[in-house]
Amino acid sequence: MRPVTRRTALTMGGLGLATTVIGGTGLWRDLTTPGAPGRPGSELVEPEVMTSSGGRLEVSLQARLDTHEVAGRPARTMGYNGGVPGPTLRLRPGDLLRIDLDNQLDHVTNLHVHGLHVSPEGNGDNVFVEIGPGESQQYEYQLPKDHPPGVYWYHPHHHGSVADQLFAGLYGAIVVQEHDPPSVDRERVLVVSDITLSQDGAVLSPSMPERMMGREGELLLLDGQLEPVLKARGGDRERWRVVNACSSRFFSLRLSGEGSSARVVGRDVGRLPTPVALEEVVLAPGNRMDLLVDLSEGTGELLAVPVDRGQMMGGMMGGAVGPEDSERALARLEVAQGAQSGTAVAKDDATRGPEGLLPDLRDTQVDRRRELTMEMSMGGMMGGNRGRGPGGMMDLTIDGRTFDHDRTDQQVRLGTVEEWSIGNVGPMDHPFHLHVWPMQVIDVDGQRPADPLWLDVVNIPAGGSVTVRIRFADFGGRTVYHCHILDHEDLGMMGTVLAE
Ligand code: C2O
Ligand code: CU
Ligand code: CU
Repeated sequence: MRPVTRRTALTMGGLGLATTVIGGTGLWRDLTTPGAPGRPGSELVEPEVMTSSGGRLEVSLQARLDTHEVAGRPARTMGYNGGVPGPTLRLRPGDLLRIDLDNQLDHVTNLHVHGLHVSPEGNGDNVFVEIGPGESQQYEYQLPKDHPPGVYWYHPHHHGSVADQLFAGLYGAIVVQEHDPPSVDRERVLVVSDITLSQDGAVLSPSMPERMMGREGELLLLDGQLEPVLKARGGDRERWRVVNACSSRFFSLRLSGEGSSARVVGRDVGRLPTPVALEEVVLAPGNRMDLLVDLSEGTGELLAVPVDRGQMMGGMMGGAVGPEDSERALARLEVAQGAQSGTAVAKDDATRGPEGLLPDLRDTQVDRRRELTMEMSMGGMMGGNRGRGPGGMMDLTIDGRTFDHDRTDQQVRLGTVEEWSIGNVGPMDHPFHLHVWPMQVIDVDGQRPADPLWLDVVNIPAGGSVTVRIRFADFGGRTVYHCHILDHEDLGMMGTVLAE
């Protein structure tokens, strides 16, 4: 019993949005003209691609609030270099990535390269850097030679405004290529995001209950577009790099229509030892997926299937502020008749042992074990401000504490392997994300993955617990772990880790 009543909630008084949103999604959709360039029903356009050469990629990114085309209409969103999403950065292991970030926003921002195994210090992947309005910062990321291939991404990480800035349009994809990739006819980057826009195209801020739940935007976008048409050729094999850049939304993907099929060959970090069926993988916020898609002539849809991620206070909010619970079309698929048969790429590539497997830590000696507890509980009862979130309504804590920039929560020895058991006390799932060092999933509520599984965002189910192993290697320094429901992170569900 989880009716979609967010629209009702938005038009209700008391949430502060009633005067600007009338009818929500329906209204925005009615105002868009199908078929016109960039409008729903027009062809999918991917973000601009910037590719490294000679071991380097130098990029200038300007973050600014501007009028961008979103869902086929001018919207006042944030964006990198005038686009939503920002440019796709294509790298190889061993590359040096240099990014000049120019902050033209009215707010402090910074940059995080999510999932990259690079130093968190200095002008590396340092989330403690603050770039004021009008200021700029040069970041430098040196990828190790054995950096795992995969789909990664970048987004701001200034505590307190991460969800707001991401939701407003600041994100882009990073692809680390294999040395010897499987041959495909075409590769695409598909960034999924959501946003809520008012009638005049401004990004709407969520209410406090929506923040507590984790905001879900009314519009679900693929590369910044609403239900674009993905045109392909029958008989082709494509590789789709999918990023869940939504602030809070969980989903899985499904391909409807005759004949076309997709399997997952990579998740977050590196490649999977054996491909997995598309339906088996849930993308929590921050997760990525690398797909091989075999297309056959006909039409169909790429669907986002909702995932039950729990409710605040066991549904006491009456479902007024709840996650999406109906299927949404991300794109329409138009697969034309292919060229003559026989031109297709070698189709057995995907089953060849892939490069990019990380060493299995299941039989490794564990140097240290820790337990962490993510908790969402009624706030304001404990006295003082222990773990008390803004608004005083619910506390979002890890080990009973909200984020403190100056406190070091976990001190680890560089070069060791640790086992972390992460519990979740409360009624909602929390996707746990660790920067810099990937996590191998050992156990999820008593279930053990058959194949080694490496992720950088691991969902911790409501009331459940997950055990991961982490090799703290290559880079020392201080960084963070947090819930990747970014509203929860901003409300304090984050801790710091120092490796030295
Ligand atoms: Cu995708 Cu700490 O973030
Ligand atoms: Cu990250
Ligand atoms: Cu959370």
